[in-house]
Parts: sequence; structure tokens; C-alpha cells
Amino acid sequence: MTKQSLGVCYYPEHWSEELWNDDATRMKQVGIEFVRIGEFSWSRLEPSRRNYQFDWLEKAIQALSRKNLKIILGTPTATPPKWLIDFMPDMVALDKFGRPRKFGSRRHYCFSHEGYINECKEIVCKLAERFGNHPDIIAWQVDNEYGCHDTVESYSLAARNAFQNWCKEKYQNIAHLNQSWGNVFWSMELSSFDEIELPNLTVTEANPSHLLDFQRFSSDQVIKFNRFQVEILRKLSPKRDIIHNFMGDFTAFDHFNLCQDLDIASWDSYPLGFLERSPKSDKFKQEYMRIGDPDFQSFHHDLYRGCGRGRWWVMEQQPGVVNWAPWNPIPAKGSVRLWTHEAFAAGAEIVSYFRWRQAPFAQEQMHEGLLLPNSEPNEGYYEIAKVKDELESLKSVASSSFSPIALIFNYESAWAWNIQPHGLDFSYSQLIRTFYTALRKLGLSVDIVPAEVSALGERELIIIPGLFSVQPEFIRFFENTKSTILVGPRTGTKSSNFHIENKKNSNFLSLLGSSVVRTESLRPGVEINIDNNGSFIHWREILNGESSLEPILSTEDGHAAFIQNKNIYYLAGWPNDQLAEHVVKYLLSKSNVKTLNLPNNIRVRDNGDKRYFFNYGAKSINIEHLIKDSEILIGQVSLNPYDVTIVRRSEL
Ligand code: GAL
Repeated sequence: MTKQSLGVCYYPEHWSEELWNDDATRMKQVGIEFVRIGEFSWSRLEPSRRNYQFDWLEKAIQALSRKNLKIILGTPTATPPKWLIDFMPDMVALDKFGRPRKFGSRRHYCFSHEGYINECKEIVCKLAERFGNHPDIIAWQVDNEYGCHDTVESYSLAARNAFQNWCKEKYQNIAHLNQSWGNVFWSMELSSFDEIELPNLTVTEANPSHLLDFQRFSSDQVIKFNRFQVEILRKLSPKRDIIHNFMGDFTAFDHFNLCQDLDIASWDSYPLGFLERSPKSDKFKQEYMRIGDPDFQSFHHDLYRGCGRGRWWVMEQQPGVVNWAPWNPIPAKGSVRLWTHEAFAAGAEIVSYFRWRQAPFAQEQMHEGLLLPNSEPNEGYYEIAKVKDELESLKSVASSSFSPIALIFNYESAWAWNIQPHGLDFSYSQLIRTFYTALRKLGLSVDIVPAEVSALGERELIIIPGLFSVQPEFIRFFENTKSTILVGPRTGTKSSNFHIENKKNSNFLSLLGSSVVRTESLRPGVEINIDNNGSFIHWREILNGESSLEPILSTEDGHAAFIQNKNIYYLAGWPNDQLAEHVVKYLLSKSNVKTLNLPNNIRVRDNGDKRYFFNYGAKSINIEHLIKDSEILIGQVSLNPYDVTIVRRSEL
């Protein structure tokens, strides 16, 4: 059992050596036990080609380990230095307009460039040889935030060659590819794999099958890039955990697949930045501007717990104001502490803050740290000091319990609906989160799982919105399971090569004796009302009339909205919040799952024998009726704004 602990991201190369000891002492004092270093330091580690300068890093590691801090060492491959770009200028990625993504910030590389890959192998080998068996290096972070700044796809020559090979391997002969992509349309037929172009700079939209394969390929390239580093580290630095730090609301590669090569999934949680960037309404953004969307962080905690097969961290937790959102407000007092407990409640092993001290120079000088640039503590520092004491009193260990409710998240579906949204605001992630929020408002903890039968297990309820293509083994599973299954909208409407799925018995709706006849997307402001239970927004489907089953809900214009056959249910549109809550409540009322009647802005998370209550609102809320006589471990019955109460759950 792993004790839940605090960490921090530290950049010794940004500070004079005299500060390192003092920094390490203060980290320890405030309760930090883990420090991530090194992930952007290539220009200091290898200032010119094959000229390795590792002594400074050794000294920094010593300064930290003298204070008994444990280290996560980053491989520096997200920031290739200038000499390397000059040495092989074609290693940079090209954007979709064919423009080079130049040196001068970070992530300026193409995942398919063999020359760059070889340079990465060299530096990773050298680092692992020197530090791989250091007793205080307990883990490696590979690269940093794959795909950040829109860098998964590259339209370089290297990418084009690699994509042609990828297609050759997949389709074997070009006739097969032509047929699979439907290239007869608009005379797009090809006569050899060498003729395949990347799907950019086309006059109007490129073929969706081509685009989807390109996204699959781009995802595979990220996975391959990660894998070669993992293989080196496993060999030269055995028994260390290998981790990557993922992002929020980011789907450009398949995180479930990439995580097969890792020991732990982690993600970088910036609640206020993500809210400002989100498509939520201005009203919502104003209400939560200092605490963030009450369900966004926890959704990603659950997603990455699923990716990490139970083991996950927050590698970068927002500690104060960030610099990169359209607007960057100061977090409410107490929010850093609330975000930290929310992650631990969801089973995180470590919550690590970005960053120790605010840098007074370069791109992120307006991004706060736990310390101000002059080394005085900032607000977040005091909040984590409090968390340290609370963790000691709770003696929490990381655990992840199996939820009776599973929500399927599928990266290919995010790509497919991004390629063919059909309505400007159709976002797969938003659709999934609509159901997630409805569940969480009922006090439920949810498992987010990939679209694989083996991940489903025995559940009371499985929710599958928008899964673009459904494999036959899924259909077989659903024919036999006792779980309640909610599918739709858009689920199972395409084959895996992105054609309309019209084979009989090949989608969920056939299990209901129905099918989707027509679909429409709806502009903002248009709602299709459903009795008095909410409405469809963004998207709705017209089902065929063959089904002899009475719909459970119908639209005001007389179409079936929600239908059922035994334990399988179909929702024929994108539900607004009210409808999503209604549907989920309806399904759970027939199950053994207990839901809670939560006041607005209160969220709950169960973990082991503890139940956590979070107040995401700006007003105090009394939760006496929810905690009854159970023992309060932290906090009080009247939950202050942005405060946390933790009780012993066994008594509830
Ligand atoms: C993350 C990134 C960090 C830093 C941080 C600022 O996306 O991994 O290096 O840039 O954002 O919030």
C-alpha cells in the first residue's frame, strides 16, 4: 500500500547552486517528499553534440537526496537544443499548413524523424547509465506532455514516408486501401502506396477514412516514441516506475494504449486555466473562476486512474495563478488544498505542484509557484503545509475501489467526431462529461474504462455515449450481460473504416430492434423538448418506427427519445444537464446503487473507509443530513466555501 504524498516540480538549472540546499530544506519542511527535475534541461546536459555535462545534475540530486527527498528524473526530449536543430533542420514538425514549427520554445520535433529518435536514444541512454541506479531516483518521467501545443500530428516528409509504410502494413495492397477509404469518390483512387499524401492542404475537407487512419498513425508514432525510451530505461534503470504526464481535455493519441508501456499514469491539473479555455458559458465561468469546474478535475482523475490501471499521480498541480489561459485569475483561498484532497480522494499516490519557485524570466514568468520569485512563500505554500498535517492525521494510502458504474471513453471516437462533427459544437469529450457530471451530482464515483470487454466486469450500469464503431465482441457481451447498458447518441453508427454502418445486427440498436434513420445537428439555442424532463441539444436522431416497444420518453414533436429492450437502453440525442440527470436517475432507481441528494455545489467521493465532501461554491453549506452521526476526520458539519470535510464512511 502506497502512502499518499506531496511532490513538487523543480528546476535546479534555473537557480544558483547556493539556493539548492536551502530549497531542499524548505521543501522537506512544508511536507514535500518527491521532486521532479530535469525534463527541460537538454541544453545544460549536452551543450554541444556528444559533450555530456552531468556533474551539475549529480550535485542537484545530492542536494535533494541529502534531505531525504526522492527524485523523479525527466528525459529532456521535449526540448531539443539549438545545436541539434541546426545539425538536422528537417527534424522539426511541419504544421498542417506545411510551416516549420521552429526552435524558440519547446516540442519542436517530429515524432517520425529517425535522426531525432537516434539523438534521443543517445541522451536517454547516457542519463540512464549515469543515474539509473541512483538509490534516490525512484521514477522516470518520459518526455513532457506529449502533444502539448498541438504537436502530435506532423506533415513533414518523415511523417509522410512513415505514414505510407504504416498504410502498407495495414492494407497490404492498394486496392484494399482504395476500397476501405472509399477512394472511388471524387476520383481519389491511388495506384501505389507511394502515392499516399498526408491529409492536409486539400481544397476542401479530406476523406474522413484517410483522416482517421492518419490520426491512428500519428497516435502510434507517439506510442512508439515513448516505447523506445521506456525500453532503454527498463534495461538501464530497473525497478524504477516509468511515468508520463498527460494533459486535460486532450485526446490526440490513445492514452490507454500508451499506458500499456508505463507503470503509472499522471496528469497536469490546472483547474482555472482549463475552465477559462473551456466552451462553458460566461455565467458558469464567472461562478467558478476561482475554483474551476467542479467535475473537470475529477473526470480526469478517473480517466487517468483507468489509464494507469489503478496507479496514478497528479504530476503538476496548479499552485496559484497560471500564465497561459485567456484570463488568469487568482484561485480562491483554500482551493489548492481542495484540489489536492480531491485527487487523493480519487486514489492518487502523489500530488505534485508546478512549480517550486516562480521564474522571474522567460515564457512562464507570470506563472506562480509555491514561492514567489524572491523566495517568500506564496498562498499555495501555506495551503499545502496544512495538507501535510492532514495527510499525517489521516494516514491515507492510495487505493482505488471498483465502481458499480463504468463510463466508456474511447480515443478513436474523439478523433472520428472531430473529423466529422456534423455540427460545429459536437465534442465527444463534452458529451462524455455530460453523463459524468450527471452521475457525480448524484454522489457517485465512476470508473472510466476503454472500449474493451475485458475492462467492463460486473457493473450495475455501463454508459456508452458516442462510441463511433462497435466491435462484434461488444455486441456479444451485451447480449449476455446482466448489467444495465445505456447507449447513444451516435453509438455504433460507423464501421471502423469510417463508413456508415448499415449491416444488419452490427450495432446496438439492432439489439433493440431499431435503427437510426436520420440525424440532425442543432445550432446553439435550439432545444428539442422531451416531456418535462429536459431536452436534446446539439444533436438528435430519428429512430425507425419498426420497433414494437413503447418509448420511455418521446420528443415534443413525436419521436422516440429513449427506448429500452430488456437491460439495453438507447438515448437518441445529446441530453442537456436536466435530461442527463433524469435518465441516469431513472436507470439507477432500478439498480442496487444508492444515490445521494446533494446540495448544489457539493461533490462527494468515496475512498476506502472515507467519504470526502467538497464545497465548490462561494457560500457555506450545511451537510448534517449527509454525514448523520458519522465520525468527522477533517472539517466540520457546515462546509465553508471551497472547504473539505472527510468522514468515516463505514458509519453511513
Ligand atoms: C504544463 C507543462 C509545464 C508548464 C505548465 C504551466 O503544461 O508541462 O512545463 O508549462 O504547463 O502551467
